[in-house]
Amino acid sequence: MVDNNKVKIWFAKSIAGFNSIIKYTYIFFSEIIYCLSRKLFPRARHRPSARMINLVTGCTKFTWFVESGKLAKFSIEEALSRNKIDYLNFNNMLDFGCGCGRVISHFYNHVGAKIYGVDINKYLIDWCKVNFDSAEFDFVKLSSRLPYPDNKFDFIYALSVFTHLPENSQLFYFAELWRILRKEQYLLVSLHGDKYIHMLNSSQAREFNDRGIAVINSKKPGSNLCIAIHSQSYLRDRLSEYFQVVDVVRAGAKGNPEQDLYLLKKNIINI
Ligand SMILES: C[S@@+](CC[C@H](N)C(=O)[O-])C[C@H]1O[C@@H](n2cnc3c(N)ncnc32)[C@H](O)[C@@H]1O
Repeated sequence: MVDNNKVKIWFAKSIAGFNSIIKYTYIFFSEIIYCLSRKLFPRARHRPSARMINLVTGCTKFTWFVESGKLAKFSIEEALSRNKIDYLNFNNMLDFGCGCGRVISHFYNHVGAKIYGVDINKYLIDWCKVNFDSAEFDFVKLSSRLPYPDNKFDFIYALSVFTHLPENSQLFYFAELWRILRKEQYLLVSLHGDKYIHMLNSSQAREFNDRGIAVINSKKPGSNLCIAIHSQSYLRDRLSEYFQVVDVVRAGAKGNPEQDLYLLKKNIINI
């Protein structure tokens, strides 16, 4: 007898496989066109390519890139205003893991603060440098210190970044962001919450139950294949030395695949 479930799974996998062949073929050819136009007009502004959009949103649609960036900016504004934090008074803001400026493009020229973006992907940072002339962008190698002095920023946000780092890397960057954030200022991060535990295998699920964190594909740090899942208690306990959790909105990071939004306040600690 034919097992109906197996047929359904086989069918779903075939459709997914077919869709990704179409998507990556489209990315391949649009990248050729993008590279040619960069060669011909190196200083001209270009839309981000389908490859860039896919790296930051997981799809290739420019309209979603723009719309999701607006929604993300809105989520940040909402979290700040709910906590009575006036971002119009900031001097320096950092988009940690800025990608190709999906969110910066909506803050850019709308706030008085100087905007900075940093990313481990040079291809995306090079695009930002050409396209946002009054913001500052830095490419950094994974696990190297961030190129900013202590206490520089009034506000830092990191959307869909800690969702793609193994735990040791996360702790390294939380300490770095703590270092470069001004005293008692705020860090906003988006994280995969327990909605994603179905993705874990049994040993990862045990780890999540015991410690409140689990990471899939930790050998691919910083890429979208590495998926970190956090519980609220992990954030409150493990980061308490550096940050106080001020606000949590489940599924609050709009414009991202469902992610929880955390507003963290820098603690004063003696090191
Ligand atoms: C899913 S994309 C999101 C990009 C952007 N934050 C947004 O919301 O559009 C994740 C980005 O984080 C960057 N990234 C990952 N690990 C990083 C790290 N340790 N330091 C800086 N950027 C990092 C990746 O290169 C990628 O551009």
